[in-house]
Amino acid sequence: MIEQTDLAGSFTLPGTSIAVNRMGYGTMQLAGRDGDKFVWGPPRDVEGAVAVLREAIASGVNHIDTSDYYGPHVTNQIIRKALSPYPDELVIVTKVGARRGADGSWIPATSGEDLTAAVHDNLRNLGLDVLDVVNLRSMFSVHGPAEGSMEAPLTVLAGLQQKGLIRHIGLSNVTATQIAEARRITPIVCVQNMYNLVQRTDDALIDDLARPEIAYVPFFPLGGFSPLQSAALSDIATQLEATPMQVALAWLFQRSPNILLIPGTSSVKHLRENLKASTLELTSDLVSRLDSIGRANNN
Ligand SMILES: NC(=O)c1ccc[n+]([C@@H]2O[C@H](COP(=O)([O-])OP(=O)(O)OC[C@H]3O[C@@H](n4cnc5c(N)ncnc54)[C@H](OP(=O)(O)O)[C@@H]3O)[C@@H](O)[C@H]2O)c1
Repeated sequence: MIEQTDLAGSFTLPGTSIAVNRMGYGTMQLAGRDGDKFVWGPPRDVEGAVAVLREAIASGVNHIDTSDYYGPHVTNQIIRKALSPYPDELVIVTKVGARRGADGSWIPATSGEDLTAAVHDNLRNLGLDVLDVVNLRSMFSVHGPAEGSMEAPLTVLAGLQQKGLIRHIGLSNVTATQIAEARRITPIVCVQNMYNLVQRTDDALIDDLARPEIAYVPFFPLGGFSPLQSAALSDIATQLEATPMQVALAWLFQRSPNILLIPGTSSVKHLRENLKASTLELTSDLVSRLDSIGRANNN
C-alpha cells in the first residue's frame, strides 16, 4: 500500500481549470548518461525508472515535468511505457527550444520548423493528441537567463496552440523583460527557472509572478547534478529529524504560494523522501536561518 500524503495542497494555473498538487516530479534524472554526455540515452535500469514514475502517480503526484530532448526521446518514451493510458488528472508539462547534438550538447532550436517538429516529437513519444503545457526554453544562453526577444518562437507556439496541439504555454530560463514581452503575445501559465536555497537570483521575480498567480517552478530545486550541501542545512535537518533535501524542499514551499516543485530522482527511496517534504513545517526562526545560507552565497 503506497502512502498518499497531502502534496502541499493544490495550485490552479492562471486562467485555466488545471489544478495540480504543489509537489510534482521532474523526469530529467530518468535518462541515462554516456561518459560526459549527460541526460543521454536509456538509463541502466529502465524498469527502475518505470517504478519511480508509477510510485509518484500512486502517491498522488499529478504534475510531471519532461522534455523530448531528455535522452533525446528516451524520457518521454519511459513516461508513456510507465503511465499510459494516463490518469485524467495527470498534467504533463514539456519544454521545447533546444535539440541535442551528437556530442550531447544542447543546441538552440527555435525556428518554426524546429518548434513544430519538437511539439510533434513530444506528442508522438508521449502518445498524446494534445500537450497540456509547453514551456518555451530561452536559449540565448544555455547556462542562465539572457536578454533577447522571444516574440518569433512564441508566435509559432501560439499558432500551434490555436491548431489544438497545445493547451497552455509557459516559459523557461527567462528574464522579467522576456516574461513581460511574452504576456503581451499570449497568456503565460508558468515560469521554470533555476532557483533553490542557495541560488536565489529570482527572488524578486518570484514575488512579481505571485501577484498574477503565475506558477514559478524552480528547476534544480535540490541543486541539480550536485545536490545542495551546507553545514547549516544539515544541522537544521538533524534538529527536525529530516534530511537536508527534505528541508530544502520545505523551504521552497514556504517561500511563496506560487512555487510548484518538480524534484528529480531516479530512486524510489529518494522519491518517497522528497514527497514527505510536503508535510514538513518550518518555524519562522528556521526559515531565517535557512535564508542566511542563500544570502551568504549570493553576496
Ligand atoms: N527548464 C530547464 O532548463 C530545466 C533544467 C534542468 C532540469 N529541469 C527540470 O527540473 C527537474 C528537477 O531538476 P533536476 O532533477 O535536474 O535536479 P534536482 O531535482 O535539483 O536534483 C536532482 C539530483 O538530486 C538527487 N536527489 C534527489 N532526491 C534526493 C534525495 N532525497 N536525497 C539525495 N539526493 C537526491 C538526484 O539523484 P538520485 O537520482 O540518485 O536521487 C539528482 O542527482 C528535472 O527533473 C527537469 O524536469 C528543467
